[in-house]
Amino acid sequence: MTVPADHAAYAEAVQLAVDAAAAYYADGTSTLDDDAYDRLVRGIAAYEDDHPGEVLPDSPTGKVAGGAVVGDVPHLVPMLSLDNVFGPEQLAEWAASVERRIGRPVTEWSVEPKLDGLAIAARYRRGRLVQLITRGDGTAGEDVSHAIGTIVGLPARLTDPVTVELRGEVMMTAAQFEQACAKRQAHDGTTFANPRSAAAGTLRAQDRPYVCELTFFGYAALPTPDDTTELATRLRELPHSQVMEWVAGQGVQTTAVTAVAGIVAHTVEEVQERVGQIAAARPELPFGIDGIVVKCDLAADQADAGFSSRAPRWATAYKLPATEKITKLLAVEWNTGRTGIIAPRAVLEPVELDGSIVTYATLHNAADIARRGLMLGDSVVVYKAGDVIPRVEAPVVHLRTGDETPIAIPDVCPSCGDAIDASQERWRCVRGRACRAIASIQYAAGRDQLDIETLADTRIQQLLDAGLITDFADLFFLTREQILGLERMGEVSTDKLLAALEQAKTRPLSRVFCALGVRGTGRSMSRRIARHFASMDAIRAADAEAIQQVDGIGPEKSPVIVAELAELAPLIDKLVQAGVNMTEPGVTAATEEEPSQALPLSGMSVVVTGAMSGKLESLSRNEMNELIERAGGKASSSVSAKTSLLVAGEKAGSKRAKAESLGVRIVSPEEFAELVAGV
Ligand code: IVH
Repeated sequence: MTVPADHAAYAEAVQLAVDAAAAYYADGTSTLDDDAYDRLVRGIAAYEDDHPGEVLPDSPTGKVAGGAVVGDVPHLVPMLSLDNVFGPEQLAEWAASVERRIGRPVTEWSVEPKLDGLAIAARYRRGRLVQLITRGDGTAGEDVSHAIGTIVGLPARLTDPVTVELRGEVMMTAAQFEQACAKRQAHDGTTFANPRSAAAGTLRAQDRPYVCELTFFGYAALPTPDDTTELATRLRELPHSQVMEWVAGQGVQTTAVTAVAGIVAHTVEEVQERVGQIAAARPELPFGIDGIVVKCDLAADQADAGFSSRAPRWATAYKLPATEKITKLLAVEWNTGRTGIIAPRAVLEPVELDGSIVTYATLHNAADIARRGLMLGDSVVVYKAGDVIPRVEAPVVHLRTGDETPIAIPDVCPSCGDAIDASQERWRCVRGRACRAIASIQYAAGRDQLDIETLADTRIQQLLDAGLITDFADLFFLTREQILGLERMGEVSTDKLLAALEQAKTRPLSRVFCALGVRGTGRSMSRRIARHFASMDAIRAADAEAIQQVDGIGPEKSPVIVAELAELAPLIDKLVQAGVNMTEPGVTAATEEEPSQALPLSGMSVVVTGAMSGKLESLSRNEMNELIERAGGKASSSVSAKTSLLVAGEKAGSKRAKAESLGVRIVSPEEFAELVAGV
């Protein structure tokens, strides 16, 4: 922290903080990272302590939302901030101060994640969601009811016809964030800086031509102040943890379904232990958290602790290290990928973010670099949290020294030196997939695709160099003589390779399709496509609209897939000619996604964890997922209340514990093998 030297420096600091708070609360963008903002405000506060006569009316100190004002719908109960603690000692001090204030020990502390999104009030009248309001400045917020219906976890109707205001956090999961970025990229070539600002922008956007999905986690339920019904009285008297159980029972999502569910701790040591667990789980979470909220669980403790002007005294936020930091942009590397896409990558001065050291980050495309006005040597805001790929948000212009230099943009393909097709936002080598044929062939031969066991990378290179293949379909036309003619290739290895190629021709359509490396589709999407259409002919006959019938494919992705299939037509034709299987065993074309009742896992959501054993021992996770889907189930990677079955092998860890706490049925790999034996 730096304390302003004089009134002019103080006034400048206040202006900087006011601008940062305004940007943050308007659309979630940031001109300062959280740490820098906190330091700035602490500096301002220190100056004000020494110069009480000079305090400016705009000063952010002591104000909710740093004084930023947004919205005109009054809150029935103010939406407050939380005070912070920054470590175990401060946590213990805070807990002791609460106990002193209420004059007795606190034996029930609720410990839950601090979700890094936007606070929202969801008003339900007789069980129907009627209004959504942002936090705004805490006393009034903005009506964002237009977002109703786009927020996962916030149902339009509750289980019971109750009138209540639910509060919680609106955010984007890593998957939702990726989808939102892809949609925006397809629409205007820009992306969102981070999930938080994407959620903020999305929540307020009214006339976007595309819809992005959001997620809600509830953390409070408030009856309206004048409500004297039995439910209102109960909600006022129940411990917080039980209120949250009631909320979940109403069909609203709470953190109970996550790996960092709220718990009740009985001592400060237990609180600290849970803080440690949540912090440790953070890098794996599919959504951002920026701390842990510790609350008095009992209504009486909360009532006796009361409120300060900006925050409750019965709760505090244990802050975790920022997931957004400022570091230096050292270089930009340009790489051509498997499909010929040329993408820039930022090389950064290493920086610790969310439990890992970040040295590389995504930079999207050349236009994006230009739009952000990035230069080499710039201080840049870098974001990484949970599952999200590290990304450069923006340069911090006021930290420029004058030594920054322009970023060189390539004028030829960095891999082959041929021309660049720059007609789309995402640049591509004019040679397309042929540019990095080796990478495409390696991918196609990989274990989860055609699984051509004996085909080493050096062998692929040899075949390419000899001009015997240009793509992976050519492999199936190789003659014994051609293979034998290669250096270091004997009779035995030749026969092995030929046998492996024969085997590869019999793979199910899902793997053959995956081997094509269609942009925007991976293993699980390929399985969904194959199961939906049942044959390559049906896939190829589908237009963009028909492809959108597949779960998880929206209007942005479907035209890309259609265009990719057109581009890949000669390759697919060659595969057909070679006799490669083009159907999905056990599937007949689905017109509607109607789960077949006959299969053992129909309608079930199944998660696999730990090491497989018995008959399933040799199966990779991908193969387990294939098996689950063949048996009619849905394979998922995380345990939630919706999970029907957990297959838990040796060394199963947190997923098993989670499933136990949720009462999810758990089976051993052997039991599971029995269950799906007929498939
Ligand atoms: S309780 C009276 N619980 O943090 C304030 N807030 O800094 C009670 N937040 O505006 C808030 N996760 O947006 C609460 N589990 C949680 C939370 C949480 C995130 C946010 C919320 C609030 C901000 C305060």
